[in-house]
Amino acid sequence: MGSKLFIIFGFTVFGIVACSDDKNFKREFVIADSKSYEASLFRQNCAICHGQEANGKEVNGKQVPSLRYGDAAKKTEAEIYEQIKNGKLPMPAFRNQLSEDDIKRMVKFVMRDLQGREAK
Ligand code: HEC
Repeated sequence: MGSKLFIIFGFTVFGIVACSDDKNFKREFVIADSKSYEASLFRQNCAICHGQEANGKEVNGKQVPSLRYGDAAKKTEAEIYEQIKNGKLPMPAFRNQLSEDDIKRMVKFVMRDLQGREAK
């Protein structure tokens, strides 16, 4: 499991370099520079584990995944919603911290701003 995450992380780093010119992906979105409501929710609730720019981060010796690349970018809107609302260990559920509207906004934020995908 650890090595699998390491490999995914390795590809993530490679992907950043390889795709930095790819205009099909809105991967240049800088969370730290954004004044959007969603970006501030991200900074308050998600950055501690997923990293300030959502590129993933090591927490207690475990790799927390990037939200821009890899598995996160393959998840459906419903799966991302489910992940944020109900969590999936070791990620906590946010249904008691965030309103329904905030959760939906975060799903869109992840898909549209971080991954350059269209969310409905
Ligand atoms: C306490 C640490 C922690 C916090 C805080 C946290 N996450 Fe996570 N998140 C994780 C971990 C660990 C995983 C991987 C879970 C797994 O192995 O399935 C994850 C997975 C995800 C995934 C699926 C990614 C994938 O590769 O499949 C999404 C989407 C996600 N988180 C979004 C968020 C959002 C949005 C927030 C803030 C509202 C947030 N997370 C806050 C730890 C966290």
